[in-house]
Amino acid sequence: MVKVNRVVLVGTGFVGSSYAFALLNQGITEELVLVDLNEAKAEGDAMDLNHGLPFAPSRTKIWYGSYADCDQADLVVITAGANQKPGETRLDLVEKNTNIFKGIVEQIMASGFDGIFLVATNPVDILTYAVWKFSGLPKERVIGSGTILDTARFRFLLGQYYDVDTRNVHAYIIGEHGDTELPVWSHADIAGMKISEWTSKHETNQEDLDNIFINVRDAAYHIIERKGATYYGIAMGLVRLTKAILRDENSVLTVSAYLDGEYGHNDIYVGVPAVVNRGGIREVVELDLNKKEKEKFSNSVKVLKETMDPVLN
Ligand code: 2OP
Repeated sequence: MVKVNRVVLVGTGFVGSSYAFALLNQGITEELVLVDLNEAKAEGDAMDLNHGLPFAPSRTKIWYGSYADCDQADLVVITAGANQKPGETRLDLVEKNTNIFKGIVEQIMASGFDGIFLVATNPVDILTYAVWKFSGLPKERVIGSGTILDTARFRFLLGQYYDVDTRNVHAYIIGEHGDTELPVWSHADIAGMKISEWTSKHETNQEDLDNIFINVRDAAYHIIERKGATYYGIAMGLVRLTKAILRDENSVLTVSAYLDGEYGHNDIYVGVPAVVNRGGIREVVELDLNKKEKEKFSNSVKVLKETMDPVLN
């Protein structure tokens, strides 16, 4: 039998079902299993998605299943759990979602799962750590979506400001996927030009650049105020990660990765650029941060540890 790629999606809420839809549209996996506490929702999604198959770029076998289907999974994507209500921070969700995750990960591991975990539920850095702990899998095979979406938002807004294709903007957001994240201006470039050189040649207002970051950091609040949740952006980020993993792309993406001395920190999952491939996280890319960036990054790690310790240790 030919080995095909199997992705199991746990959680078919807004983020999960948007991910499934985007995944099907890009034809990245041969099998997609949907699992949700609300079985009728998962079943309905599987039926609905299957009806789009004649229009998809390639065949994906989609069904509504159970944790037992994780035995043959290459990738398990978790989007299950409570999400932010207006006014709530991501960190406010820590206790509720850690408890939910314990049960989920135990059942997945009981299936004999031996692939890669991709976690998107908030607070994503802490829940990725929780999955790593609960599963006992090697650190490189547990990945969080981290700041992949914040980086995308940053690239989009910078591209919009200068009217340049966002794909020619390289600029990372690192740290917590949340209020303490930071932009790495010292390594931002547009079309191979350092941002300082670019700004000297293009009309720029420093206040506008500061506001771009503020809008990145607060984007989720702005969207939640308007429509109750965010899902399309993160779903496409998760598909991008799925592709990097299943197609062994060695892509550099800002994910929540385990630090083991990199950036001067240990025993924490936090958003950093990393090389992602079929084995998970091949390596953390260690940027030479300036003093201010280092301080902000350390603060972000500190806040995550303070929030995580009472719940996980
Ligand atoms: C986002 O940043 C809420 O974490 C989610 O869109």
